[in-house]
Amino acid sequence: MKILVATEKPFAKVAVDGIREVVEKNGHTLALLEKYTDVNDFYKAVEDADALIVRSDKVTKEVIDHAKNLKIVVRAGAGYDNLDLEACTARNIVAMNTPGQNSNAVAELVMGMLVYAVRNFYNGKSGSELKGKKLGILAFGNVGRNVARIANGFGMDVYAYDAFLTADQINESGMAKAVASQDALFETCDVVSLHIPATAETKQSINYALVNKMHKGGILVNSARKEVINEPELLKLMAERTDLKYITDIMPDADAEFKAFEGRYFATPKKMGAQTEEANINAGIAAANQISDFFATGNTKFKVNK
Ligand code: 3PG
Repeated sequence: MKILVATEKPFAKVAVDGIREVVEKNGHTLALLEKYTDVNDFYKAVEDADALIVRSDKVTKEVIDHAKNLKIVVRAGAGYDNLDLEACTARNIVAMNTPGQNSNAVAELVMGMLVYAVRNFYNGKSGSELKGKKLGILAFGNVGRNVARIANGFGMDVYAYDAFLTADQINESGMAKAVASQDALFETCDVVSLHIPATAETKQSINYALVNKMHKGGILVNSARKEVINEPELLKLMAERTDLKYITDIMPDADAEFKAFEGRYFATPKKMGAQTEEANINAGIAAANQISDFFATGNTKFKVNK
């Protein structure tokens, strides 16, 4: 089988080497399309692929239409909002993700960005400490749990809310205290870190009314997706409340407007939460193994489409 790795933002070389080893050991061949700038190159590369590994690359209906032999697509990572699941299902193509494989990398970046924020973007002026501050984790999945683990090491007071977990499930982790609602999380905490996927329910859900519930000096951290933020409303709120900071690993569409809030806004130039050798190796090799296993045994454990 021909397995195509199509990554606009490539994996580290060591991860590609590892993927190749798994692919070839299982009797398949690897094709690579990295740093492509023209979607037509993607269409062409996928034409004879039996399997596809991507990162945030958009696997649209057009991509699927060009992929005549495609049987499986694996998003090497957590969020699969970049996959057109309906188009996959319509062609009987299995779509998967690799949950948990890059979550520590994202969590470490969250804490790094937070230190950067409370130390005034390293401008030399007196800042504040994270110890004793209340951290709210919105969605207690793999990344949220890793953030909780590290934040406890900083001596933060950690809270969490997850629409799909009971309070007991959160409390039993021993890493965070459950609060009753998303509103309660924003009301309770000095810092809120977003770990929700981009879905119909969550898009634009981080809005004026919600963020305005935060304590004075509140910091909103986004390592999830830009789509969950209602950007016009957050801009309006930050203009009104000069105490708030917004720190994000996903550059907003309104980056230029946010930049006006000097000292209160920071965005990485390119989403880099999962951009470590370790995360690339974990997620990339997991994807290659899941594909090999699917071809060998039909295993669809990490399937995300119907
Ligand atoms: C994910 O959903 O796994 C993360 O957002 C990482 O995405 P990336 O592979 O594009 O860096």
